[in-house]
Amino acid sequence: MIDISINEVKSFDYRLIDEIKNLEKKNLGSEASINQWVIPVIIRYGKLIIAQKISDNKIVGVCELVKNWYDMRAAFIHSLYVDREFRSKGIGKKLISEVINILKKENLESVELTVDPENMTVINLYKGFGFILVSLEKDEYGKAVDRYLMRLKL
Ligand SMILES: CC(C)(COP(=O)(O)OP(=O)(O)OC[C@H]1O[C@@H](n2cnc3c(N)ncnc32)[C@H](O)[C@@H]1OP(=O)(O)O)[C@@H](O)C(=O)NCCC(=O)NCCS
Repeated sequence: MIDISINEVKSFDYRLIDEIKNLEKKNLGSEASINQWVIPVIIRYGKLIIAQKISDNKIVGVCELVKNWYDMRAAFIHSLYVDREFRSKGIGKKLISEVINILKKENLESVELTVDPENMTVINLYKGFGFILVSLEKDEYGKAVDRYLMRLKL
């Protein structure tokens, strides 16, 4: 059992950006990951929430959020992942749960995300938190890269 704290990033230096950039590549691959040109934008204009090992502050989970320009009470989870070596230890659930709490405290009304329609484990994980399937978005992230849109009423 690893002791984890969930923290919102409010300021940063290049080391933190580098650490997240490397985690992105390792866990999401070069196509889906964001880099030093986007991570600071998420911190300043969206929200970056991280799971850190209490023993050494190492980042083991990341959630990147933006707000919906057309509905300011709605947020969107751009990515949520746990570092490969730390999966299946309950960190993902803890991170999702804390992200939901933070959004509730901010008086948001809903949060959306997209998932791979074939990834039943993740779909069921989000359903367990009350997310519902809204629609199938064809070619959302490129030709034949379909995604389910899921939504949670907060
Ligand atoms: C999805 C993800 C965040 C879950 O993180 P995690 O820390 O491994 O999750 P947890 O340990 O809290 O487990 C959550 C649930 O996932 C499922 N799960 C976890 N490990 C599993 C495994 N080895 N095999 C099958 N299901 C597993 C279980 O349903 C588990 O719930 P349970 O413990 O109540 O049965 C992580 O797998 C990940 O980063 N995946 C890649 C990125 C991704 O797909 N993100 C989601 C799309 S937005």
